[in-house]
Amino acid sequence: MWTGRFSQATADLVLQYGESVSYDWKLYRHDIAGSIAHARAQLNAGMLTPEEFRAIEQGLKGILADIEAGKFEWSIKLEDVHMNIESELTRRIGAPGAKLHTARSRNDQVATDTRLYCRAEIDTTLELLRNLQRALVAKAEEYAEIRIPGYTHLQRAQPVTIGHHLLAYVEMLGRDVERLSDCRRRVNVSPLGSGAIAGSTINLDRAAIAAELGFDGVTENSMDAIADRDYIMETLFCLSVIGTHLSRLSEDLVLWSSSEFGYCTLSDAHTTGSSLMPQKKNPDVCELTRGKSGRLYGNLVSVMVAVKGLPLTYNRDLQEDKEPLFDSFATVSLALRVNAEMIAAMRINPDRCESAVSDPLLLATDLADYLVRRGVPFRQAHELVGRAVAVAVSSGTPLNCLSLEQFRTISPEYGDDVHSVFNLDRAFSLRTNPGAPNPANTERRLQYWKSQLA
Ligand code: ARG
Repeated sequence: MWTGRFSQATADLVLQYGESVSYDWKLYRHDIAGSIAHARAQLNAGMLTPEEFRAIEQGLKGILADIEAGKFEWSIKLEDVHMNIESELTRRIGAPGAKLHTARSRNDQVATDTRLYCRAEIDTTLELLRNLQRALVAKAEEYAEIRIPGYTHLQRAQPVTIGHHLLAYVEMLGRDVERLSDCRRRVNVSPLGSGAIAGSTINLDRAAIAAELGFDGVTENSMDAIADRDYIMETLFCLSVIGTHLSRLSEDLVLWSSSEFGYCTLSDAHTTGSSLMPQKKNPDVCELTRGKSGRLYGNLVSVMVAVKGLPLTYNRDLQEDKEPLFDSFATVSLALRVNAEMIAAMRINPDRCESAVSDPLLLATDLADYLVRRGVPFRQAHELVGRAVAVAVSSGTPLNCLSLEQFRTISPEYGDDVHSVFNLDRAFSLRTNPGAPNPANTERRLQYWKSQLA
C-alpha cells in the first residue's frame, strides 16, 4: 500500500498482523457518512468543484450500496475500512477521489467513525433496555401481589411480592438507561478536523461537518481528540453494569426455576434438554447470560490496559479498541433481546410461592416490631423474639403455633394479641413507606414505569 518513502513492500506477516479490515469493515456506514460530510466542507471552502463533490458523493453512495449488497471486496492489503473505501472510490471516479483526504487523517477519521458507531449502538441498546423493562413490568403487573420470601444471604428474610422483586430489576435497568444516555453526551462530539494530531493548515468548517453528522459539538483539543478513548471505556463500563444486572436476574431465575424453589417455570422455548438425562430442563439462557458478564468485564479491562501506558497522541495500540467494543455491543444486544423474550414467556407458580411465604419465621422481624410498639426497646425485642424462635425450632413448633403461655414464659411483654402478627395481609399493610413492598406502592411504581415506557 505504501510507496513514496518506502522501497520495500510491506511484509506479508505485517499485513496479517496489522490489518483491521476483517472487523472494522463494520464501520463502513459511518466512514462513508463522515467522508461525505468532509467532502461537503471542502466544497463549501471552494476546494472541490460541485462536479467533483457530486462525483465523490455518488461514488461513495455506490460503494455503500455494494457493501450492503455483499458485493464489495475487502482487502487486507489496504489495512482498514478507511483505506479500502477511499482507494475503491479513487479507482471508480479517478482524480476527485484523491482529493478527499485533504485536511484529514485516519486518526481523526477513525475517532469519528467509532464515535458514530457507538452513538448508533447506544441508541439501539437504549431501546432494547426499555424493551426488557417493558417485559419485566408486564410480568410484575401480572403477578403483582403474589407473595414470596425475600432473601438476604440466600436465607429467607421477610415477605415481598413478585411485583416488588421484578420491579427491583426495572429500577436497575432504569439507571442503566440513564447512565448510557449520559455517556452518549460525551460520545457525541466530533473529532473531525483534528487531523493527525495538530489540526490542519487547511481550515474546513468543523461545526458544519459536526452538524451534518448529528454531533452535538466539536472536540476542543486536537491532541486529546486523537488520543481519547474514554468514551469507549465509559461505554464498555455501562455495558458491563448492564451485564451485571442481567447476571443477577439470571441467578434469581436459575434459583426460582429449580425444583427446590419452584417459583417460576421457564418456557420450553427458552430452556434446553440434557443429552443424557431425559428429565432435565435447563435454564441455559440464564447461565449463558451470567457467564457472558465475564467477557463484558474482560472487554472493558482490555481497552483500559491498552490505553493506559500510551504517550499522546495516536499509537497503533489504539486499534485494539474495536474488537472489544464490537463484541460488548453484540453480546449485550443479544442478551437483552433473549431475556425480554424469556421473561415474557415465563410463568410464576402461585402455589409454590404461597407455600414458601407461609413460613412464619418470615414475620420474626414483624414480631419484634410488635414488641417495640408496646414500648420494648428494639435490641431487647430482638432478643425476646430470638428466644421465641429458639423455642420454636427446638420443639419443632412453627413460631406462630407457640401458645400464649410459651410466649409469656419468655416475656410478659407478649400480649394476648401476639398471634395477630402472623398475618401476611397485616405485614404488607404496615409496610407503607416509599420503597416498601406495600401493594399500593407497587401499583404506583407500575403505573410510573408504564407511562415512562409507553
Ligand atoms: N485502523 C486504525 C485504527 O483502528 C486506523 C487509524 C490508523 N492510523 C494510523 N496512523 N495508522 O486505529
